[in-house]
Amino acid sequence: MDFKGQTAIITGGAGALGSATAKTLAEKGANLVIADINVEAAEAVAQSVPSAISFELDTSSAEQNRACVDAAVKKFGSVDIFLANAGIAINTPVLEITEEQWQNVLNINLSGVFYGCQAAARIMVKKGYGRLIMMSSVNGFKGINGRAPYAAAKGGLDALTRLMAVELGPKGITVNAVAPGPVDTEIARAMQTAEIRQKWIDHIPAHRYGTPEEVAAAVVFLASKEAAFVNGVTIPVDGGFVGAGLVME
Ligand SMILES: NC(=O)c1ccc[n+]([C@@H]2O[C@H](COP(=O)([O-])OP(=O)(O)OC[C@H]3O[C@@H](n4cnc5c(N)ncnc54)[C@H](O)[C@@H]3O)[C@@H](O)[C@H]2O)c1
Repeated sequence: MDFKGQTAIITGGAGALGSATAKTLAEKGANLVIADINVEAAEAVAQSVPSAISFELDTSSAEQNRACVDAAVKKFGSVDIFLANAGIAINTPVLEITEEQWQNVLNINLSGVFYGCQAAARIMVKKGYGRLIMMSSVNGFKGINGRAPYAAAKGGLDALTRLMAVELGPKGITVNAVAPGPVDTEIARAMQTAEIRQKWIDHIPAHRYGTPEEVAAAVVFLASKEAAFVNGVTIPVDGGFVGAGLVME
């Protein structure tokens, strides 16, 4: 897979999965826009690869998403790939979630993804080529305690993926999503108790967490020209978690 001459925007590009994807796309020749609310961290990722700029983005703002796409076009001439990856997670039971928490997660994880993909698609239609990829989660498929707005947002992304594929497929743009299971990141290690970690491991047929590089590999495939006939799907990258019923061993 070759991405020379192509430009990818990665929202949340300073984080674990975004930066791993940035590294893989950069190795394959892509120009990158590392867009993140944490612009210092985004700049550090941009500096670590051959051809990239950082962009300060709060993805819950439609205007900032449009400005980010404009910046990519100004610097590199086009946008071929848009990875809507920025996201936040909360862990609060249904009975305790505040309106503010609910809105905040939906604004960033669902509305923000739509604003970014819409802005990028408006550029992509001009040349009749594009790859939109949304970072969903296994929480979109399965009920998991404490994740109500997060799950609603990710399930919403899966529906949006199908709908946008129908509208944009005829214009040469594919729209797909990747749904990671738990990934072994610094944040996950800091936030999860050993007990919670073991529960996940017991329910995943692979009996382990994934790596950022394994998620990046799926994203990079969907971002490639080779994936032209894959459209409107959410691909779990989860060691078999979504497909599993009882895991006996
Ligand atoms: N890590 C996992 O186990 C896992 C599993 C399933 C899905 N995901 C999804 O993958 C995506 C990336 O997760 P990650 O593990 O790399 O998390 P992370 O926290 O390492 O990275 C998220 C990035 O998004 C940025 N961000 C947060 N709010 C933002 C906003 N309003 N505007 C722009 N940027 C913002 C953060 O600064 C951070 O750099 C998220 O959408 C997450 O829901 C992660």
